[in-house]
Amino acid sequence: MITRPLTRHIDLSRPPYDLAQYEDAGGYSGARKVITGMTPAEGLQLLKDSGLRGRGGAGFPTGMKWSFVPMDKDNKGDKDKKGDKDGDKAPRPKYIVANADEMEPGTFKDRLLMEGCPHLLVEGMLVGGYILQADIGYIFIRGEYVEAAQLLNAAIAECRKKGYLGKHILGGDWSFELHVHTSAGRYICGEETALLNSLEGKRATPRAKPPFPQVSGLWGKPTIVNNVETLCNLPPIIEHGADWFKQLSLTGDAGTKLYGVSGRVNNPGCWELPMGTTARTLIEEHAGGMCDGYQLKTFLPGGGSTPLLLPEHLDTPMDYTEIGKLGSRLGTGTMIVIDDQVDFIGALKNLEHFFSQESCGFCTPCRDGLPWVEKALDNLEHGRGSRADLDWLKRATWMLNMGNTFCAHAPGAMGPLESALKYFPDEFEQRLAQSAARRKSVTEQTAP
Ligand code: NAI
Repeated sequence: MITRPLTRHIDLSRPPYDLAQYEDAGGYSGARKVITGMTPAEGLQLLKDSGLRGRGGAGFPTGMKWSFVPMDKDNKGDKDKKGDKDGDKAPRPKYIVANADEMEPGTFKDRLLMEGCPHLLVEGMLVGGYILQADIGYIFIRGEYVEAAQLLNAAIAECRKKGYLGKHILGGDWSFELHVHTSAGRYICGEETALLNSLEGKRATPRAKPPFPQVSGLWGKPTIVNNVETLCNLPPIIEHGADWFKQLSLTGDAGTKLYGVSGRVNNPGCWELPMGTTARTLIEEHAGGMCDGYQLKTFLPGGGSTPLLLPEHLDTPMDYTEIGKLGSRLGTGTMIVIDDQVDFIGALKNLEHFFSQESCGFCTPCRDGLPWVEKALDNLEHGRGSRADLDWLKRATWMLNMGNTFCAHAPGAMGPLESALKYFPDEFEQRLAQSAARRKSVTEQTAP
């Protein structure tokens, strides 16, 4: 039985499979099965039964999200067939978008999928496109992922030639086109509604939700935006079924997960493992343990916007549910390890510098608050800190949090800060004491 559905065709020591090689290895059988043998409704039911949750970071149930997309009442996917009455037809065109704008600090999992096996994502778009009866698909890819974009364009060209894309795919009624769109390069473009604005050629600021894109997305039409890893799970789910997908996991959240580890470990990397693998297994077995002379101090379990966890949390299964119970999030599943010798406040400042730079500037708390957070941390880092800096950091964790900002960007940035204040208050107090000592010594030296 297949245990690594996402990476089984990936071998970075050779170029990725072309279409013929991918088909020889069983590729496009998921797409063939759903397009020729299942109705969109059956495909959607299978997706719901599988328990797949979004792999971009939020973990929203994919089947439930897709069920909000309006479908033709006949449900056969024949968009030329007349319904009995107005309202039987879903608004057209419908879109499916792969969010490949991977910019979460520490995250490089979608890159592995796209560079290692571009046809898997194209097949995922085909399967998803058919289930949703979408007309057009876009792969919205991070601008720096030049090689991945080239590989995807080549894969799409092969599929067009073969008849997997275009009119009447595999001889049926459904037609579908797929395009790669290269991002201009902002973190916020990964937020699904900012991404849609960017695709429309507008400034990439998030939109108010609701309405959710499933109902009113690209150019106001029904649109699904999902992460690359989520979409890559679709072909194997169609091929092997919901029960198979569920038993891949060690816990209640189904499937496998691309986990990553970066920081001072012996073997940083990215691996496909059963969902629910513990952080200890990731760090000690797959990442080869901490580098000699370094101890694990804390870790961000799923990228730069996830709250910190401690060594005592190492045995918690890394899934959406269990990590959530600790007050953090699985996020992208790619952890950043912070060791005992790193300048902790400096590392935190680097992170907040990133979020501050990447604010879209649309709402005041985020645009003005994040630079203040960065400044306060910079003061503490460089021995210029005062009690007012620490007070501001504490205040920021609620002022810049959910409900006070337009989107999840600033709240995401507050996750690591809030947990740092909770778990490591001494780090902040120590910097305050150092700042006070420095001020005293400067005063004494400059006194007449
Ligand atoms: P979210 O929870 O608002 O939405 C997740 C998905 O579920 C969206 O597609 C949304 O449309 C849908 N959804 C949520 N509530 C819904 C409802 N009531 N009805 C219908 N659909 C609903 O999360 P968001 O803001 O999309 O993503 C935040 C996550 O993104 C964070 O967890 C963060 O870790 C991650 N992230 C990942 C990055 C990457 O490079 N992969 C970059 C930045 C953030």
